[in-house]
Amino acid sequence: QEDIFKKLVAHCKEYGYVFPSSDIYDGLGAVYDYGQNGVELKNNIKKYWWESMVRLHENIVGIDSAIFMHPTIWKASGHVDAFNDPLIDNKDSKKRYRADVLIEDHIAKYDEKIEKDVEKARKRFGDKFDETLFRQTNPQILAHLEKREALRESMAKALNANDLTALRQIIIDNNIVCPISGTANWTEVRQFNLMFSTEMGSTAEGTSKIYLRPETAQGIFVNFLNVQKTGRMKIPFGIAQIGKAFRNEIVARQFIFRMREFEQMEMQFFVRPGTELEWFKKWRETRMKWHQLLGFGAQNYRFHDHEKLAHYANAATDIEYKFPFGFKEVEGIHSRTDFDLSQHQKYSGKKLQYFDTELNESYVPYVIETSIGVDRMFLQIISAAYCEEDLSKDGKQDSRVVLKLPAALAPVKMAVMPLVKKDGLPEKAQEIMDLLKYDFNCQYDEKDSIGKRYRRQDAIGTPFCITVDHQTLQDNAVTIRHRDTMEQERIPIAQLYDILKEKTDL
Ligand code: GAP
Repeated sequence: QEDIFKKLVAHCKEYGYVFPSSDIYDGLGAVYDYGQNGVELKNNIKKYWWESMVRLHENIVGIDSAIFMHPTIWKASGHVDAFNDPLIDNKDSKKRYRADVLIEDHIAKYDEKIEKDVEKARKRFGDKFDETLFRQTNPQILAHLEKREALRESMAKALNANDLTALRQIIIDNNIVCPISGTANWTEVRQFNLMFSTEMGSTAEGTSKIYLRPETAQGIFVNFLNVQKTGRMKIPFGIAQIGKAFRNEIVARQFIFRMREFEQMEMQFFVRPGTELEWFKKWRETRMKWHQLLGFGAQNYRFHDHEKLAHYANAATDIEYKFPFGFKEVEGIHSRTDFDLSQHQKYSGKKLQYFDTELNESYVPYVIETSIGVDRMFLQIISAAYCEEDLSKDGKQDSRVVLKLPAALAPVKMAVMPLVKKDGLPEKAQEIMDLLKYDFNCQYDEKDSIGKRYRRQDAIGTPFCITVDHQTLQDNAVTIRHRDTMEQERIPIAQLYDILKEKTDL
């Protein structure tokens, strides 16, 4: 699986999806650039989210707030004092780690052990294998589960109590060693604030320290009344936003899973106090369905409900996906009570209340938040789509790498290929391009053999290739090749628009 992940990273670079930032200067840690195909996939992911949140919900509207915000906002939200990572150094390798991530990786090893046991049993029992029963009754699996949960619980307890000594003790007690030096020669655990800061204003007029936002959510909270009043919004209603966020992450690894500059898609849903748990439940289900609709298999997603909660939350869950390196969080759903609005009310001295005409009373609304990283969703989709297929037949070796992206998200929807570069075929192919390019991202490709061109489009994840041949000039029909099945059929050019529309609409 680790091997597949390395190949995936290389594939993303080779096919114009993701490049290391500042590549010719040997990169910049945990910062990445999106290439010609990456930007299209990223835009399609954002569109998929925006359409389902803002367009389909009549009571959700969008905003686009600034990255720079008044510094007091981060004091009110708790980020100045508490947005910290617990760090630990290995004295031998001099490498720095997040103490909680070291423990999380250790927890993930129990998951790996469980999956290995299941796989072994599946091979042993063949058709008679009842996986659910096996998972529920096998003593070894139950022991792993118990250890995993105990570890999770003690880590959450230490983190919530901000008990750095306890966190270090968990690392020692579980014999967790440095992946580089292999030793457990650790320093104390220290807190490190994740916010990037900079100066605003010129020195002549004086400067003030401001932060690059570490989440987009606060831009929504501070605009709550602006939107509610100008949009005449009635509770329950939501405000959605897509935008960049910045965190000085210490553990820079796993490609775009954890970045220092990334993008979030967040939605704050404002509700009447006392109804928040009902809405939390609703959004928990709605968001899971949204992920599963992409068709990557329900078994690859799971909830991780938080038992230990942050002081401002009264319910929280993560939606996790089975990445090549294990189940990891893609999205967080939190019931944040009235914490943020109340804090901003206190620090700004402005009333942030809603007058409920049905109850004839004013209150600070409660909030359900759904928060997902665009880049993490990108990684989830591309790792789910990446496929190496063996196509060997009759003793002839053959294989392909194909990105089985949902057609609606694929960067290129259709490649238009003249069979040869002469006899008027390129002109005919260009005519088809002109017919479709205003509605769909199409690519014209005339270089190399048709077989090579198919492979290139498979690697990009293009769901349809159409070939213009000599017959096309007579009957206005083309061959359409389907990416996943590699089947080909002959269809009239006039049908192309409808096929693309039906298959690639979000
Ligand atoms: N407003 C709530 C909030 O920001 P979070 O769990 O810290 O919550 C939400 O972040 C989502 O943002 C995560 O589930 C993840 O998808 C994404 N995310 C967080 N930190 C990230 C990072 N350093 N790189 C990429 N994505 C990140």
